[in-house]
Amino acid sequence: MQGVDPAWLPDEAFRPIGTRRTLIRGSGPLVDTVHAEVAEACARFGGRVERDAAAGPYDLVLELTGAESGSGGEAFTFERGAGRTTVAACGGPGLLYGLFHVVRLREAAFQGSYGPEEHRPASALRMLDHWDNVAVHPVMGQVERGYAGGSLFWTDGRARGELLGRVGAYGRLLAACGINAVAVNNVNVHETEAHLLTDRIGEVAAIADALRPYGIRVHLSVTFAAPMVLGGLSTADPLDEGVRGWWAETTSRVYEVIPDFGGYVVKADSEGQPGPFAYGRSHADGANMLAAALDPHGGTVHWRAFVYNHRQDWRDRTTDRARAAYDHFVPLDGQFFDNAVLQVKHGPMDFQVREPVSPLIGAMPRTRLAVEVQATQEYTGQQRHVCWLGPMWSEVLRFRPEAGAAVGELARGGLVAVSNVGDDPFWTGHPLAQANLYTFGRLAWQPDANPYRFLDEWIRLTFTPERTEEGARLEAGVSAVLAGSWKTYEKYTAPLGVGWMVQPGHHYGPSVDGYEYSPWGTYHFADRDGIGVDRSVATGTGYAGQYAPAWAKVFESPETCPDELLLFFHHVSYDHVLRSGKTVIQHIYDTHFEGVEEVEKAREGWASLAGLVDPARHARVTERFEEQLRSAREWRDQINSYFLRKSGVADAHGRRIY
Ligand code: GCU
Repeated sequence: MQGVDPAWLPDEAFRPIGTRRTLIRGSGPLVDTVHAEVAEACARFGGRVERDAAAGPYDLVLELTGAESGSGGEAFTFERGAGRTTVAACGGPGLLYGLFHVVRLREAAFQGSYGPEEHRPASALRMLDHWDNVAVHPVMGQVERGYAGGSLFWTDGRARGELLGRVGAYGRLLAACGINAVAVNNVNVHETEAHLLTDRIGEVAAIADALRPYGIRVHLSVTFAAPMVLGGLSTADPLDEGVRGWWAETTSRVYEVIPDFGGYVVKADSEGQPGPFAYGRSHADGANMLAAALDPHGGTVHWRAFVYNHRQDWRDRTTDRARAAYDHFVPLDGQFFDNAVLQVKHGPMDFQVREPVSPLIGAMPRTRLAVEVQATQEYTGQQRHVCWLGPMWSEVLRFRPEAGAAVGELARGGLVAVSNVGDDPFWTGHPLAQANLYTFGRLAWQPDANPYRFLDEWIRLTFTPERTEEGARLEAGVSAVLAGSWKTYEKYTAPLGVGWMVQPGHHYGPSVDGYEYSPWGTYHFADRDGIGVDRSVATGTGYAGQYAPAWAKVFESPETCPDELLLFFHHVSYDHVLRSGKTVIQHIYDTHFEGVEEVEKAREGWASLAGLVDPARHARVTERFEEQLRSAREWRDQINSYFLRKSGVADAHGRRIY
């Protein structure tokens, strides 16, 4: 679309297909999408596409075969032999994913011989949750924790109407990285947005229409209090017959308008949102009521496990926010209906740069779990800093809570990311933040894959480097900027897993004690002798004991706890020697100096790519690097000065600390 960055689908990426002869076999709406994609590429590059013809020869055959397969028709096979590349699928979505596979391979799709290789997603649900408000919220703006402009779906208080073309373009990008579901509004459901469920469902249907050609279903965040707010009932008690009837009827009407509607997303009894606790009911009662309403239509409720006390007294050392999700939900294991998915944040706190994996994952074998990550960089630089989160998500997905399945396999209810997209021309504010969106989609499809492979894919598609020396320099240069950026960000912000230390409210920039005396349950407990939260069983909050025995043992002792999580699990003195051999205080100083140096280097690396990158994209990133560097220096100096003053321990290298 004009004025919009083509991101990882530039025209150039279709050249290998567009210059060749393609045959498409089969029918259906997604086959039409595949045909339109190939036809457009051929119109641009001079190739040819035919539908259901028998005469050849063809370089590429995309064919729908047989009946839909178990994975919703999303699987495809790919093979190449005798000069012909073939993609075969049992369903329209599989054919579309197969086409994008060919796009990703570029010329290599038409060279040598392959397979047959079988490709199928590890998880049937790969979803983005948009925290978009229809109306601009007085405090949170239009997109809560959004750093890419306004909402892509909603503008001037309504669905985008004639601008839905942009939503279609978005759907195309999402399909090209494997995403198949989108929740179109914020989990904090305000008054205006509550009405999307009933009198404004037509607007949700318009968005669904725009996304459907790319195999993407829409989901809606709803308020638990809807029967009262919208239905005029006197209660929202999930066991009340009237309430249950209201949900059943309302849900039927949703499906009349959107037959392939995905289901509901619910944040209940969390940060002020209403929920079943008000009626003395459990979260299983709440979730199951909605599951029952959705069941006849094939829908799913995603019930969030982000439930904790946000009005804690900071003096109270017995309450530990990290324990909350496990304490609330593990006793309910086995009580949730099959189409009630419990959606768990990947860590026990809230998307910090470093957290252990939530102990709830693996502890509820009789419940379908979805694992939620955050693509929007709320705590990781707000899309002003480069921070590619692929390696972090990959660590989470490959973590094995016990001997046996990894998190990526345990997430039977799907993988979900909070979206980082808005109406910004580059989609994500920081153009390099697109890499997070792309990597999430690809990891959701294949959680055990090496994330660096997806980074390379994204770079090659987005920057379409030529096979020349300059092309190689471009590819290596972009990769150098992104590959280590998460660890760099970790170095100059809160150390060793302790988290927070951000400005309260908007969460950007350093404030070491910003949350120290707050009700949010987010403390570091630094004093003149040491720092960290004792979450051991022996002397602390007992959180470490929520893990299966092998991990519980590792986390229980400062001697065996991994360095990067030490202050999450233990309160230690500044002269405690890490497994790395450094003291905690020297580690803090060193990493903060290093982090800033790494940002300086990345900024220079990016500057050296001027002339190889589209000027507008180059300029946008350059401008963000100025801010990242300023902010990283601020972090370094505040953190180092704070700990020098608290501890009185000098930097072993005598560097400048204030
Ligand atoms: C974080 C974030 C909120 C959001 C919440 C959630 O706390 O700061 O804006 O509403 O997560 O995930 O529900």
